[in-house]
Amino acid sequence: MHFLKAAALAGIMTGTVFAAVAGSSAAYAADVKIGFVVKQPEEPWFQDEWKFADVAAKEKGFTLVKIGAEDGEKVQSALDNLAAQGATGVIICTPDVKLGPGIIAKAEANGLKLMTVDDRLVGAAGKPLEDVVHMGISATKIGEEVGRAISEEVKKRGWDWKDVGAIRVSYDQLPTAVDRVEGALSVLKENGLPEANIFAAPQAKTDTEAALNASTVVLNKNAGIKHWVAVGLNDESVLGAVRATESVGIPSENVVAVGIGGAESAINEFKKPSPTGFYGTVIISPKRHGYETAMNMYAWLADGKEPEKLTLTSGQLALRDNYAAVRKELGIE
Ligand code: GLA
Repeated sequence: MHFLKAAALAGIMTGTVFAAVAGSSAAYAADVKIGFVVKQPEEPWFQDEWKFADVAAKEKGFTLVKIGAEDGEKVQSALDNLAAQGATGVIICTPDVKLGPGIIAKAEANGLKLMTVDDRLVGAAGKPLEDVVHMGISATKIGEEVGRAISEEVKKRGWDWKDVGAIRVSYDQLPTAVDRVEGALSVLKENGLPEANIFAAPQAKTDTEAALNASTVVLNKNAGIKHWVAVGLNDESVLGAVRATESVGIPSENVVAVGIGGAESAINEFKKPSPTGFYGTVIISPKRHGYETAMNMYAWLADGKEPEKLTLTSGQLALRDNYAAVRKELGIE
């Protein structure tokens, strides 16, 4: 009798122990808090990144804290706030890659595991800080894809390269921006674009308005050029160049611009009743940059599994008539 009682008691206790363990691991997932800080929260790319990071949070049961930080000060306070809220990890696309060493120090002081996305931190000498886990796009390759798409279309339209001007919407303080536009221009030059026909349109910010302003200056200075192509860091930059051609009265048949991104800005453009100068975009994956980074951070915090130091994602060209299919294929509808 005593023995049975003891065994039953042990059973109950064992059961209790198991329940407590299961309970605590579920509670642990809910306790995990991960920050996702982005430089330009209004940009569709970053909205999509957040959306996919939310999917990961739901799937695993952790809390995702989304913060927009447009300058260095906001980054510092975001990292402080996250720590104060009990976050133990942060994924960031910084407003300025030169903040690198400061961000690392702040994350460390706040006990936050750090991963960067999109824009890779650089050190004092402008070299990438390779110890920080990073996911970015294969910038040069994707730029080359832009260059190929434009070159093929220029050929199709029968333009003579010597009559073609190229707007280089630039944001040269950001290495991935330089790699993207240089990748595109290298292919255009290979195909016959004279170096002298490349015009820099430095944008003050990586949005459409800044690109429109910079591109308008180029077009006004070179009013004699008939055909225009445009390249830039993202869809917003390239759209700025397209809007500038429209505002000075260049017909869309004389413009071939290809962006990088494939989020809402590009889609809205493709949905317009007749084609604009925005000929195409290389669609990149906010799903990989949002969902995968968040999953990797969770695995790092919950299971101690450190992510790969560097992941570079690819892109796929999409035009007006096939963008929906390409998005579907990439799982980012
Ligand atoms: C940079 C750009 C964004 C987007 C990402 C993709 O952060 O500013 O628009 O293109 O890269 O990695």
